[in-house]
Amino acid sequence: MSNRKILVTSALPYANGPIHIGHMLEYLQTDMWVRFQKQRGNVCHYVCADDTHGTPIMLKADREGITPEALIAQVGKEHLADFTEFGVAFDNYHSTHSEENKHFSSLIYNRLKAAGHISSRTITQAYDPVKEMFLPDRFIKGDCPKCGATEQYGDGCEVCGANYASSELKNAVSAISGEKPIDKESVHYFFNLADFTEMLTDWTQAGHLQPEVRNKLAEWLDSGLQQWDISRDAPYFGFEIPDAPNKYFYVWLDAPIGYMASFKNLCDKKVLDFDAFWAKDSNTELYHFIGKDIIYFHALFWPAMLKGANFRTPSAIFAHGFLTVNGEKMSKSRGTFITARTYLDYLNPEYLRYYFAAKLSAGVDDLDLNFDDFSQRVNSDLVGKVVNIGSRCSGFIAKRFNNRLSAELAEPELWFEFIAANEIIAEFYENREFGKAMREIMALADKANRYIDEKKPWLIAKEAGKEAELQAVCTVGLNLFRVLVAYLKPVLPTLTYSAEVFLNSEVHGWIDELEPLLNHELNDFIPLMTRVEPDKIAAIIEASKENLEKTAVPSVPVVKEKQFSSIADTIDINDFGKLDLRIAKILKAEAVEGADKLLHLTVDIGDETRSIFAGIKSAYSPEQLEGRLTLVVANLAPRKMRFGLSEGMVLAAGGDNGIYLLSPDSGAVAGMRVK
Ligand code: MSP
Ligand code: ZN
Repeated sequence: MSNRKILVTSALPYANGPIHIGHMLEYLQTDMWVRFQKQRGNVCHYVCADDTHGTPIMLKADREGITPEALIAQVGKEHLADFTEFGVAFDNYHSTHSEENKHFSSLIYNRLKAAGHISSRTITQAYDPVKEMFLPDRFIKGDCPKCGATEQYGDGCEVCGANYASSELKNAVSAISGEKPIDKESVHYFFNLADFTEMLTDWTQAGHLQPEVRNKLAEWLDSGLQQWDISRDAPYFGFEIPDAPNKYFYVWLDAPIGYMASFKNLCDKKVLDFDAFWAKDSNTELYHFIGKDIIYFHALFWPAMLKGANFRTPSAIFAHGFLTVNGEKMSKSRGTFITARTYLDYLNPEYLRYYFAAKLSAGVDDLDLNFDDFSQRVNSDLVGKVVNIGSRCSGFIAKRFNNRLSAELAEPELWFEFIAANEIIAEFYENREFGKAMREIMALADKANRYIDEKKPWLIAKEAGKEAELQAVCTVGLNLFRVLVAYLKPVLPTLTYSAEVFLNSEVHGWIDELEPLLNHELNDFIPLMTRVEPDKIAAIIEASKENLEKTAVPSVPVVKEKQFSSIADTIDINDFGKLDLRIAKILKAEAVEGADKLLHLTVDIGDETRSIFAGIKSAYSPEQLEGRLTLVVANLAPRKMRFGLSEGMVLAAGGDNGIYLLSPDSGAVAGMRVK
């Protein structure tokens, strides 16, 4: 088999918000493709990182009263946890705020500059005189110049859809300080994209892009390439431009370089050859999976930057469409803006992996997550067809044959038919026609079920002297089941793993190498997947609406000068003395039926036990809490809540970045008072 060397990336998610199921479409598509490549025996590295720079991240950190570094560290952890639980297996997950990225950003910039592709000139921009910073369009608001709608932002009107320059807004104010912006001059640096017109015209026609994308680019190229403004003034969270004090690289300059940086970081850890993947003459493959909204950056700026800085260009860019939910754009108020975390709180991630696989094609069409269709497909294909074969046959093998399969395969033709499908299925996976691959696999599953229906092992089992036949039929059934699972391995790593344990045999490599399991001992059957529970879907929608109320962050930041305006500036010692603060031991923690944020805690405060409801479910699982010490306000008046009486309050630090329960130093015991 060929042994290709492949480097794969997904777009780097912004570090200013949580991962949602729209993002997941991309990371799951990429992950399935990468798992397929690895199963085929190719060398394949999958790298990604958080995209950490830019004004929104700087302002968000500001608002939370933390440094951007602390913000991106926390968000990076949350992103990676979400991805990991969805089974996305990066070989490396890094950050654009890294030494490697700083190095390559400067290197590429310096090479472009030396080759004459960078120029500078003075431009005039809106400036917030209070916050003392230049204002990106989306941080300026005012009345739409076309329809007069108020509270519209400088990047377009949400009411009439008009696009305009932010300078055209009427009654414009800074969305940060509320002050009227002034015009201010500043020197900016530009990348002369037009120098690459010829190169890009060739490159975009040379088979690196999907046909729809190529056509779009031809339009852009026809209308002429503009200089690209790659600098931003301080204050900005990013990398300073070499030899240009107080000027920073625009986030989109260093973001794609983050692909290289993450790979370099992997190379240093694993002793891999960086140049084999990035040098100009490299013969390895490089693929970027992206959403259709960022094609311009990846198919124009990026290849031009690479070319101009003497690196290789990508083998291909694979763009996908956008995820809609129940036919509409994800919406916070409809409860369809579903974060990865909320989904994981309720449903098996492999349901979504399969659903996306079943609906994905190689094109850039949008993909709709319809929850009825979702349940129906998962229940009928995975539970009803695939898992069913395993459970139908395993019982007889366990009870009647001590978990041992027959020594011979009764239906070699059927087996070969299943194996022979490997070429077409591989081709579909390779070409990102996952939907077609799933249909092929399900057609085989139908065949396997038909075979069992015809043989009727449950009748054979009742007849005397038909032991061998019963064992033979179930042996065929389970071997076919194993082939199906092997085909689904890139899509369903967890289900596959459990099936491998049950079958007492791992699948390595591609299906053309698979041999039937004969005279082989199985382990007891493990339930592999249960049906989608409709009430869980309703709960996800409900919880997503709730997220909105509780954690809604305005799309444009507002400076909260005083986060706690009701807190007095000073209190005297007598005021403090009124608090009965105690060390408490959490004896029991349990989820509260019908409450998505609450945990019900039973705590020991020394002389008594209290029942307390705490809004900490998003940060802690009950098991994590039982037995640990924390701090409670013991003399808070009991409060009647929908779920019962809360007799006190546990203390935690918290903000948009999570909740952190307080705990005493070691040695403290329940009941101690805080003085
Ligand atoms: N930070 C940039 C990418 C830099 S790559 C050098 C960015 N980040 S993002 O968080 O907004 O999006 C990350 C990826 O998720 C993008 O490819 C984007 O297209 C994709 N998606 C975001 N929302 C999506 C949907 N609703 N549906 C499908 N993909 C979506 O862009
Ligand atoms: Zn308007």
